[in-house]
Amino acid sequence: MKITKAVIPAAGLGTRVLPASKAVPKEMLNIVDKPAIQYLVEECAAAGITDVLIITNRGKGAIEDHFDYAFELEANLKKNPRKKALYDAVHDVADLVNVFFIRQKETAGLAHAIAAAEPFTKDEPFAVLYGDDVIKSEVPVVKQLTEIYEKYGKCVTGVNDVPLDLLVKYCSLEVTPVEENVMQVRSIIEKPEPDKIYSNYAILGRNILTAEIYDYIHRQPVDPKTGEVMFSDALGQMANDGKLYAVDFEGRRFDMGNKLGIMQANCEYALEHPEIGEAFRKYIKELVAKL
Ligand code: UTP
Repeated sequence: MKITKAVIPAAGLGTRVLPASKAVPKEMLNIVDKPAIQYLVEECAAAGITDVLIITNRGKGAIEDHFDYAFELEANLKKNPRKKALYDAVHDVADLVNVFFIRQKETAGLAHAIAAAEPFTKDEPFAVLYGDDVIKSEVPVVKQLTEIYEKYGKCVTGVNDVPLDLLVKYCSLEVTPVEENVMQVRSIIEKPEPDKIYSNYAILGRNILTAEIYDYIHRQPVDPKTGEVMFSDALGQMANDGKLYAVDFEGRRFDMGNKLGIMQANCEYALEHPEIGEAFRKYIKELVAKL
């Protein structure tokens, strides 16, 4: 079945980037001249997704405005032919895909947020992009994953080989190879102790899921440490049942939920930006020479 729907959970508190995320959703923090979440919606569009559900909550209205027409602003830009490119940039974002919104009424974790997507995805397979994980790649990561879903008919999670200091903060996957960069996932351990890791593969913000995930989420007990149903537990159970594949995707992932990730994303995208790339490169070289 072709995947045309995607879900972006964006209802987290973003405590790691406070106070920037106090009144501005962290998913709206910019990378050069676009908010992080626009990169995700563009990735979806480039992968052939037509309908995107963004899961929000109180205080995230800026996300809704961003994917809507901005009549007054657009009318103003339209008057000036020299501002045509700006007009297009502002207007076209509302037409990338059909964007839908639903509220997660309590901030009860990622699994709880994804469960809110059920009335939208119904029994169709869908992509999930974590709202604060921007991935810069040649081929959109969602496309890299959907190709494997279409080939094997299993849920697929996007992974990369990550260093130990990150692995202990994320998770570690036990895998068996299937083909070049594709594996079957056997088990998942969340935030492993360094001596308990299975491999250096960790899940980084992209999944292709079937509607079966909802049963897995609803069946999971609440984790006593976090007081939430953990999404990694639901995926782990799927893996134990032989229903989860992993793709070691091509791409560089930036964690927009953390300060260093925001700065790295801004530097890398700025270096390639058609308007400021050259000047920024010059500036960085001068700065590095002084360090
Ligand atoms: P994070 O794990 O980064 O959680 O969520 P967070 O609460 O936003 O961040 P910190 O730890 O307080 O800094 C990963 C993705 O899942 C969404 C977030 O918006 C983010 O895009 N999320 C998280 C929800 O939609 N709902 C939740 O209850 C939790």
